[in-house]
Amino acid sequence: MATVTIKHITKAFGDNVVLKEFNETFREGEFITLLGPSGCGKTTMLRIIAGFEKPTSGELYIDDQLVSGGKTFVPPEKRSIGMVFQSYAVWPHMNVFDNVAYPLTIKKKPKAEIREAVEHVLDIVHLSQYAQRFPNQLSGGQQQRVALARALVAAPKLLLLDEPLSNLDAKLRESMRFEIKEIQRKLGITVVYVTHDQTEAMAMSDRIFLINRGVVQQSGTPQEIYNQPANQFVADFLGKVDFFKGEADGERIVFPGMGGQSIAYSGPRRGKVEVAIRPENIYFDPDGVLEGTLEHQYYLGDVDDCRVRVGDTAVRVIASGFAYKTLRDGQKVRMNIRDIMVFEDDGLLEQMLKIQT
Ligand SMILES: Nc1ncnc2c1ncn2[C@@H]1O[C@H](COP(=O)(O)OP(=O)(O)OP(=O)(O)O)[C@@H](O)[C@H]1O
Ligand SMILES: [Mg+2]
Repeated sequence: MATVTIKHITKAFGDNVVLKEFNETFREGEFITLLGPSGCGKTTMLRIIAGFEKPTSGELYIDDQLVSGGKTFVPPEKRSIGMVFQSYAVWPHMNVFDNVAYPLTIKKKPKAEIREAVEHVLDIVHLSQYAQRFPNQLSGGQQQRVALARALVAAPKLLLLDEPLSNLDAKLRESMRFEIKEIQRKLGITVVYVTHDQTEAMAMSDRIFLINRGVVQQSGTPQEIYNQPANQFVADFLGKVDFFKGEADGERIVFPGMGGQSIAYSGPRRGKVEVAIRPENIYFDPDGVLEGTLEHQYYLGDVDDCRVRVGDTAVRVIASGFAYKTLRDGQKVRMNIRDIMVFEDDGLLEQMLKIQT
């Protein structure tokens, strides 16, 4: 097991500062996810941890050892880290077995030990029957799993994974998420996982670091950042959310875009606010506080994704499938809201308000 301590790390490529003041400790056995939109600096952070990139300033420790910082730089091969790159590379001239065995072969491990370890990880990634195939005889997703098996075979104490499931179909992706999580639990290794897929991050992580333009916007458990987003960027990035402009007067929030309809609100904020509502937190209710016209229902199997026109505003409602089969497009409906998030103009979270029904 390994801890990773990042002290004030900043990274610039020329004038372009791509990571600003990253300051954090990843604890032993934690599953950490770096999440954020394309170009926000996730891969760069991972490459700094692996030792493929030097930080411009700041220090990096693995366990208690300084590996980057000042005059010190420990090269990647001396950091005992397993890594799957975003552009995973498998050796084209080696079959699957030899690809996966490679990290042990260069360490000159006994043959029997290598065979056992390789068979074990191939089983984990569901590639046992492909051991003799060459990479050009595999699909992209299968090659990605070869890369994952190769990163795991030497039982590293720290595993860095850069979008390792991006080429898999939805079903395999879900099962591999579970497998990676199981491997991590079983081996007790520390994992730093990079993805821009928020569902994946929510499902797998002990803690998520949500990054935007090289700055950590918020870190915390999936529940913390989903339920108490620090700012509008975080609320918007995680899950589905709609923003509505409102006016708070201490008792109510009035929505000018909804023909002046309002909801009760006794929070401290007065004046212009941004109200964020997750569509699964709005539900149809004959006694509801908002009234609108049902425009369309999209049947998604488990739920109905509905659009309701309230004044000039389209309100999205994700309703559980069965209860609302009776509703017809064009019908007047009333809605209630479970939770709203109220943000100030600068995008900082003002208050999480629970509206009880
Ligand atoms: N070697 C480099 N030289 C110059 N700029 C770079 C280099 N590597 C990355 N960058 C820039 O740093 C920024 C962050 O890149 P990075 O690869 O870390 O993003 P990312 O979050 O991994 O994005 P994605 O989700 O698309 O993989 C980008 O603007 C990128 O263009
Ligand atoms: Mg990347």
